[in-house]
Amino acid sequence: MLGIETSCDETSAAIVEDGSRVISNVIHSQIDIHTAYGGVVPEVAARSHLEVILPVIDEAFSRAKMTWDDIDAIAVTHTPGLIGSLMVGVMTARTLAVLHNKPLYPVHHVEGHVYANFLIEPQPAFPMLALIASGLHANLVLFQDHGKYELLGQTQDDAAGEAFDKVARVLGLPSPGGGLAIAKSAEHGDPHRYTFPIAKMKNPYDFSFSGLKTAVLRAIQAECGKSHDFPSTKLAELLSEQQRNDFAASFQYTAARTLVEKTLKAYTAHQPQSVVIAGGVAANQELRRQLKAALPRPIEYAPMELCTDNAAMIASLGCYVARYKQPADPYDVEVIPSLSMTKTAWR
Ligand code: KG4
Ligand code: ZN
Repeated sequence: MLGIETSCDETSAAIVEDGSRVISNVIHSQIDIHTAYGGVVPEVAARSHLEVILPVIDEAFSRAKMTWDDIDAIAVTHTPGLIGSLMVGVMTARTLAVLHNKPLYPVHHVEGHVYANFLIEPQPAFPMLALIASGLHANLVLFQDHGKYELLGQTQDDAAGEAFDKVARVLGLPSPGGGLAIAKSAEHGDPHRYTFPIAKMKNPYDFSFSGLKTAVLRAIQAECGKSHDFPSTKLAELLSEQQRNDFAASFQYTAARTLVEKTLKAYTAHQPQSVVIAGGVAANQELRRQLKAALPRPIEYAPMELCTDNAAMIASLGCYVARYKQPADPYDVEVIPSLSMTKTAWR
């Protein structure tokens, strides 16, 4: 399966066998381009995808030492994401499917994140509980099987990665890529220097990160002796390096605890055969440490490069979809900027 992923700011192409073995996985990150703007600029992202998509696909073939004759089908992310970015991947995939006469499978990006866990040993067993924490999501999803799943809970405001990115900005750390910057700063900080709350929700599996983000902001203002109306962009320069590291560590500790507490509740209630974590925030080592310590069963984690956006996870999901579903008409695959994963359970 050739996978193509362009939903946000990574252009990626990968070749995966049987949904489980990565043969090649090429990822071109645009992070350098967007850092100057302090966030992903959609138009700039789409243009950059357009420039590199064909060389990235060529590189995936060349690293795999394969040609089109070795490819059975193509999987592409068609939802959700930035519309211009998605369009580049989808139009490329549609054109290649027609040109090389290959079946085409459009797949859901967030569901794709979960399939990073099918690229490691042992493959997760069903029922499988998935914690999905990315730049746009914080979801707990219970999978009965491939394509059969229900949403147990989701964020009621900010996504998990969004909270990392917003706190990174207040701390004066680079963005995009705020999550990784927080994790690095936190390595030198004290996670118990500041105490932040975990939001109580009506549905015990729902998340809320907006209150945590504000609590961090208020604590920084208090530490700097500034009132609520002091510009948040000017706070970082008043913090010492140690204070910044301690804020990063304390925030990260609470964000991870929030994710772990809800996951543990869902685990206890549903007793799944496996638990997996997915999405960019799943790369966070503190989250991994806390979850491993809390769960009564062993848990395996995918390597970092399979947690953040990549086409191998898309190709893996494509392999499982192809076992059960007819391919799409390559002349008629839509780009859908926003679509909840729960509306796409496909079996
Ligand atoms: O899944 P992803 O690569 O893109 C989306 O589909 O959203 O997730 C990106 C998010 C960003 O918010 C980023 O700050 C966060 O994942 N992230 C991390 C780490 N690496 C990436 N958050 C915490 N710790 C990390 N090591
Ligand atoms: Zn993603």
